[in-house]
Amino acid sequence: MKLIVQSENPLRGEVIVPGDKSLSHRAALFAALAEGESVVDRFLVSGVTRAMLDVLTGLGVAWQVKEQRLTVCGTGLNGLRAPVVPLDCRNSATTIRLLAGAVAATGIDATLDGSAGLRRRPMNRIVEPLRRMGVEITPAANDCAPLHLHGRLPDQPIHTMDYTLPVASAQVKSCLLLAALGADKPVTLREPGPSRDHTERMLRAMGVRVETPAPHTVTLHPPTEPLQPLHMQLAGDISAAAFLIVAATITPGSEILLRDVGLNPTRTGLLDALRAMGADIRATNLREWSGEPVGDLLVRHSQLRATRVAGDLVVRMIDEFPVFAVAAACADGVTEVREAEELRHKESDRISALAHELQAIGVAIEPLPDGFRITGGPVAGGTVTPHGDHRIAMSCAVAGLVARAPVIVEGAEIMHESFPAFGETLQALRA
Ligand code: S3P
Repeated sequence: MKLIVQSENPLRGEVIVPGDKSLSHRAALFAALAEGESVVDRFLVSGVTRAMLDVLTGLGVAWQVKEQRLTVCGTGLNGLRAPVVPLDCRNSATTIRLLAGAVAATGIDATLDGSAGLRRRPMNRIVEPLRRMGVEITPAANDCAPLHLHGRLPDQPIHTMDYTLPVASAQVKSCLLLAALGADKPVTLREPGPSRDHTERMLRAMGVRVETPAPHTVTLHPPTEPLQPLHMQLAGDISAAAFLIVAATITPGSEILLRDVGLNPTRTGLLDALRAMGADIRATNLREWSGEPVGDLLVRHSQLRATRVAGDLVVRMIDEFPVFAVAAACADGVTEVREAEELRHKESDRISALAHELQAIGVAIEPLPDGFRITGGPVAGGTVTPHGDHRIAMSCAVAGLVARAPVIVEGAEIMHESFPAFGETLQALRA
């Protein structure tokens, strides 16, 4: 599929963004581990969350999605069925990493695999600490997927540990917290930065004792009772909203309202970075849905000035750099992103992919080992390829809104991984 973007209109209107991808993955998997029926509203139905649901089928879990309501019949930690064939996590790193932790906790024997792209993502970051917890796990020769988790007898609990993660990563932290559900003593994890804390919040809502004894530190006490099923409505995905926030900020005359957006502070780094550049983003109607902060965002066009992003802010906007780069391309001056080497380990090597594709449409971007430097100026337009990365595809599309000639995104169907209605949503806003 080709997506062709060119627009002379300001963006106007109201949008309810799709349910959060991170919350959807967790809700589906955690509901399977609970005992009883969970009902989750505003579940994100997309490529990567479908991968999680199909994997649950392979583990003997019954579920259904109607409209955006997910219902799961939880089997409890001891009720998952050992799969006879490898579980296919397709393109979803969240699925494979969180699932590895859940499978480890249950002690069943399973092989977790995925697409060629997923097989290139680093897995040593979960393999090494899982082994410290006594989990027998065999990755492929290059330390990547497929991962084989060897079955464990019920009288061999997961070992306790106090572990410092080398990089701040919610996927790694969540994998290890899930594995810790099968331990007999508390497990403590320490991180170098503030990765998203959805797992902690959701497990608490299910009755698990999860404490934060110090900043970026979490202790999970293994449950003695079954996990309680979930009854919740998921917040809108701020990482999907990000494309619309930047779109309205850079398109002259725009004013849009995004409703029910998740505003968990571990996810709102993009708002802080854009506000520091002079963006006009107002959060209203603030409330909480099942322990997660939610609000509406009113976004108006504004002329941006360059900024510098590094440190903890990088972790709090880790998925937003592709579209942040488009905002930087429209800002006055030179924007620099540093200490963001993790971008090289996402759906693509986002530093090289961004440099390659943004240069193709006339953006002055210089890749750096741990980030990039962008000099603001006019965007020419042209043809881009997304490198199998949904966020690169949507970011280039947003650049098309201000480009002199159309931006043509080849292979644009990759957007369905996280935001299937992206094109229609832009059109509904009059793009
Ligand atoms: C995610 C965590 C982040 C993020 C990914 C989703 C999650 O990855 O990039 O899109 O749901 O936990 P890392 O934990 O590897 O940084």
